[in-house]
Amino acid sequence: MIEPLGDFGDEEMRAELHRVADWIANYRATIEQRAIVPSVAPGEVAAHFSGHAPEQGASMDELMRELDAFIMPGIVQWGHPAFLGYFGSTSNGPALLGEMIAAALNVNAMTWRTSPAATELEGVVLGWIRELVGLPESFMGIVYDTASIGLMHALAAARELTGGDVRKRGLAGRGAELGPMRVYASDQAHSGAEKAMIALGLGEENLVRVRSDERFRMDVGTLERAIADDVARGMRPTAVIATVGTTSTASVDPVAEIAGVCRAHGLWLHVDAAYGGPLAMLPERREVMAGAELADSVIVNGHKWLFIPLDFSALYTRRADVLRSVFSLTPEYLRGDAGASGVVNYMDYGIQLGRRFRALKAWTALRAFGREGLESRIREHRRLACLFAEWIEREPYYSIVAPVTMAVVCFLFEPPGMSAERCDALNERIVEAVNASGDAYLTHTTLCARRAMRIGVGNVLTTERHLAHVWHRIKEEAARLSRD
Ligand SMILES: Cc1ncc(COP(=O)(O)O)c(C=O)c1O
Repeated sequence: MIEPLGDFGDEEMRAELHRVADWIANYRATIEQRAIVPSVAPGEVAAHFSGHAPEQGASMDELMRELDAFIMPGIVQWGHPAFLGYFGSTSNGPALLGEMIAAALNVNAMTWRTSPAATELEGVVLGWIRELVGLPESFMGIVYDTASIGLMHALAAARELTGGDVRKRGLAGRGAELGPMRVYASDQAHSGAEKAMIALGLGEENLVRVRSDERFRMDVGTLERAIADDVARGMRPTAVIATVGTTSTASVDPVAEIAGVCRAHGLWLHVDAAYGGPLAMLPERREVMAGAELADSVIVNGHKWLFIPLDFSALYTRRADVLRSVFSLTPEYLRGDAGASGVVNYMDYGIQLGRRFRALKAWTALRAFGREGLESRIREHRRLACLFAEWIEREPYYSIVAPVTMAVVCFLFEPPGMSAERCDALNERIVEAVNASGDAYLTHTTLCARRAMRIGVGNVLTTERHLAHVWHRIKEEAARLSRD
């Protein structure tokens, strides 16, 4: 039992740590036997708990019982090797251990002085990732929680460069003076773009969605025309978001060409390489990041394809001075801690003041795998995705609906003579049925107004055997549902 004041005693803490370590080890060892999707109704988990804060403390025995009885039945097993939703899962042993140690330290990386090692290790891992994805040293990095937040910060810097002194004077009441600031992204770019526009007061309608081509890459001619039209209408083109590895199909925009357009018009170029950046680690796929070196900002997510668990998103910028000029602000009570010279205080580069020691789990993952280990895992994910695509192509009535550029495969089941509407509904039902079975998980997406199935391979535990099983389940459900 925990003391009335203070914490666990040393020996009790040691015993509880062992208990939790065993619990985690058992969880990982049995993950394949668990249903990926829980069968709980909305509200079912919460109903186990009182709406009032607990009056008396509980023992760890009780807590662990509640964990197993009430919480675990509502968990989606993202770490299951047959979980192929989104981009898969970045769970792995070394990173998990890093996260546990970071929780034990619980330091705040807001300034260098508040924990020098947290700040310096952040710089170190950011340098490693920068090198791994092939960005030059002129890019300074900072870790945020997510790519959506990183993008918002990048666009805040772009907004400042328009010269309206928005940091100080804001946007309200300055419509005529500033004109609508326009940001361009392809129709495949992540919806975080709209969220950033909303948060920055730039307005959702000023995010211009540019048509993509038949390979789901931004059409640069359309971008140029959109910018010219906006200039003619007195609007203020501000930034372009290019994507390396889009959410649906992992397509890659022509970044170098887009950089030329940005240069010609004086626009901020943001490259969203949240998913695709790490592919550049493979010597044979280095070119996916071509042109990113010309960007003003680039995002690479550790928690998509770099084996760093949620959350870890690296924003790199060549314009760290601008980012700092937007966000640097030292409250009086932090003057002492922020005063060290010749150091980085990451709180100066974003909204967040308190910052988790995210660098530790990145360090354990990158250090334990090494470049070779990272490369071979990414190459294996590519191999598995290409193999899955081959199986699809060999099967009658199945087709690949987008080029397999990374470890994402989008595909369609289209029995002969079936209308597009019925076929869309059938593909959705196949995904639902496979997921409901609990032993595989995939998602769907909409491409060219058609519903398609989609898998993403990203888990270090996923093997050919798992993929073969998922493929078998898909075919089984497709055959069953098309007979109904
Ligand atoms: C290409 C791309 N960019 C950005 C994001 C947003 O990522 P986050 O969840 O880190 O905000 C996603 C999410 O899947 C994505 O696919």
